[in-house]
Amino acid sequence: MRMYDLIVKKKQGGELTKEEIDFMIQSYTRGDIPDYQMSAMTMAICFNGMNERETGDLTLSMRDSGDKVDLSNIDGIKVDKHSTGGVGDKTSIALLPLVSSVGVKLAKMSGRGLGHTGGTIDKLESIPGFKTEMSMDAFISQVNDIGMAIMGQTADLAPADKKLYALRDVTATVDQLSLIASSIMSKKLAAGADAIVLDVKSGSGAFMKNPEDAKALADTMVRIGKHAGKQCKAVITNMDEPLGRAVGNAIEVREAIDTLKGKGPDDFTQLVLALGSRMVVCAGKAKDLSEAEDMLKKAIADGSALEQLKRFIIAQGGDASCVDDTSILKLADNVLELKAQSDGYVSHIDCDEVGMCSLILGGGREKKTDTIDPSVGIYLYKKVGDKVCSGDTLAVLYYNDREKADAALSRLKAAYHTGSEKVSHGTLILGEVD
Ligand code: URA
Repeated sequence: MRMYDLIVKKKQGGELTKEEIDFMIQSYTRGDIPDYQMSAMTMAICFNGMNERETGDLTLSMRDSGDKVDLSNIDGIKVDKHSTGGVGDKTSIALLPLVSSVGVKLAKMSGRGLGHTGGTIDKLESIPGFKTEMSMDAFISQVNDIGMAIMGQTADLAPADKKLYALRDVTATVDQLSLIASSIMSKKLAAGADAIVLDVKSGSGAFMKNPEDAKALADTMVRIGKHAGKQCKAVITNMDEPLGRAVGNAIEVREAIDTLKGKGPDDFTQLVLALGSRMVVCAGKAKDLSEAEDMLKKAIADGSALEQLKRFIIAQGGDASCVDDTSILKLADNVLELKAQSDGYVSHIDCDEVGMCSLILGGGREKKTDTIDPSVGIYLYKKVGDKVCSGDTLAVLYYNDREKADAALSRLKAAYHTGSEKVSHGTLILGEVD
């Protein structure tokens, strides 16, 4: 078999067989197919797509390109979640301790982020002492001891995806449905959980800019998950404005903690309950979503979710006093405020631009080798639909470098749109695939 022939086939709109996909993925992972041929293939896939059978075969081939996590030494149904990402997405940090506090077993691998802010792993590392590197044995025994663990994704988990994603990132071939679905699901399937709940984002701050495309991605991923023998559900959620009010790293951990204290922003709290109740049902701990949601609300109200967060932080070497005193999660000392220029209502916030501001401040990575400044970030005092009077603070930037802060402030100013008409903020849950 020759990669050249497979590129020609896909360029002409042909369908790759399972054997051809396996040949391509396993040879590429070994280094036997060069990046330039693989990038020609990913571009051909962008133009001509892959059907469902090809997408499924691509996923399984990438899943099988490296190690698979064996969670069989943990009793009960192990549940995983994945979000397709967006601005201000600190969901796992609140969601996992909450769901685990009602008895659901969670063994989660997470990535570092490229882009606006760090990934879950970077955000967690803004907690003093917190460690996300551990052996597989330690990971499994932590889940057996306290019900949950989050570790950095190992290099050997779906290595084909790691290599391919890095290539797609620099060849403008990320935003293709089959490539996204197979990338995400190969890692989820290799990570070994019995059930997977997906949060598929739709909107200006997401890969999928409209609910129809997000639904198509969700449908594909759920079918792949079920075909691989997993319980799998997806919720399609709005990413037209940042999630919650905090964007950054330490500042997002603060917001996640506040949410478990019952003082989180409405949209973020709603998302955590929506995903959490589905995870609880998948784990067989509640008969339906309404019972599951009641259990989660009670765990927030009686402090058990917060106690589980502390247990989790301690188990991973972190300073759990940050839960009672969030000022331990240091924010940069310098602040700049963005003020409203006129009276009216916030009509729109360019989600990606807010993310860019965080990146400019140093809260994210442009290249894998960049280091993140956990203390910088943005707090949005006003969101879509809020009334504003001239001179009100719309948002605050926390910064360590004035030049970067000035650049971020002028972008943030352009990202905020106000008008005289009241606009209702968008619905958070746009759909679901079960
Ligand atoms: N997240 C992934 O892991 N892969 C993609 O292709 C897109 C988002």
